[in-house]
Amino acid sequence: MNYQQILQEISNEVSTFPNTGEVANYIPELAKVDPKKFGIHLTTVNNEHFAIGDSEDRFSIQSISKVFTVAMAFSLLGDQLWKRVGVEPSGNPFNSIVQLEYENGIPRNPFVNAGALVVVDVLLSELKDAERDLFAFVQSLTGVSDITYNPIVAQSEKETGYLNVAFVNMMKAKGNIENDADEILDFYYKQCSIEMNCRELACAFLHFGENGKAYDHAGFRLTKSQVKRINALMLSCGFYDESGHFAFKVGLAGKSGVGGGIAALYPEEFAVAVWSPKLNKKGNSVRGFNSLELLTTKTGASLF
Ligand code: DON
Repeated sequence: MNYQQILQEISNEVSTFPNTGEVANYIPELAKVDPKKFGIHLTTVNNEHFAIGDSEDRFSIQSISKVFTVAMAFSLLGDQLWKRVGVEPSGNPFNSIVQLEYENGIPRNPFVNAGALVVVDVLLSELKDAERDLFAFVQSLTGVSDITYNPIVAQSEKETGYLNVAFVNMMKAKGNIENDADEILDFYYKQCSIEMNCRELACAFLHFGENGKAYDHAGFRLTKSQVKRINALMLSCGFYDESGHFAFKVGLAGKSGVGGGIAALYPEEFAVAVWSPKLNKKGNSVRGFNSLELLTTKTGASLF
């Protein structure tokens, strides 16, 4: 497969579409990003690398980080984790609060904000230094040691994250939060404001595509079956109330973030990360989505 040529074709085709959507402006610091940025990096299980555009620029990975934290929590608690957070698509936006009250403070899945906050609660309860362990885990997945978070973005999120405060407190009232709300929120804003580039994300996600293998990164061990389940969650819940659409049009397991990144994988073949900051109304990158749709159309590399 000539992936480099395919990436070139995708870049050419996508640049002819109008650059529609809006950069995430509910987090003021994210609104400052250049909306014209566009990059893709694809890496294969044979350690081949193909890239185009701004694939080496780091950007705010936002909700893509939720894949790392749920992997850590699943490794620590095993199936006990699913008593605290569900595995069903929500059919609602990532920051919707209505379902949480009806469903007794148990978030639908670990990728909506409330679910990711429960996952942080688990990490803070189970680990002596959860922040150090998160960065060790990301470093182990990528092989890159200087990945860190942007404190200005984290602070910007903290100042405007009213709904996240509401989620933690609602869940605390319902008995599904153990730790101090501010500690959970501070950790959550750090994980969301981690900055990585497309190459680093693709390398990290490749580990979730090695379905045949159990793995151990920085002491977080996942069995084959657990890796498979992380993929199932990405496929069914990775794009919030657009997850069905992503499965329908793209057909890969993946995860988006409001920084405009999408990381996705085709098990046993490749992982790919794409970045374009303008988002559709569901909070997913417009050009990122278009690019991955073109990728699976051109390669035939879809799960279905
Ligand atoms: O809490 C938030 O709203 C953001 N830090 C993360 C949201 C996000 O990335 C949703 N993804 N598409």
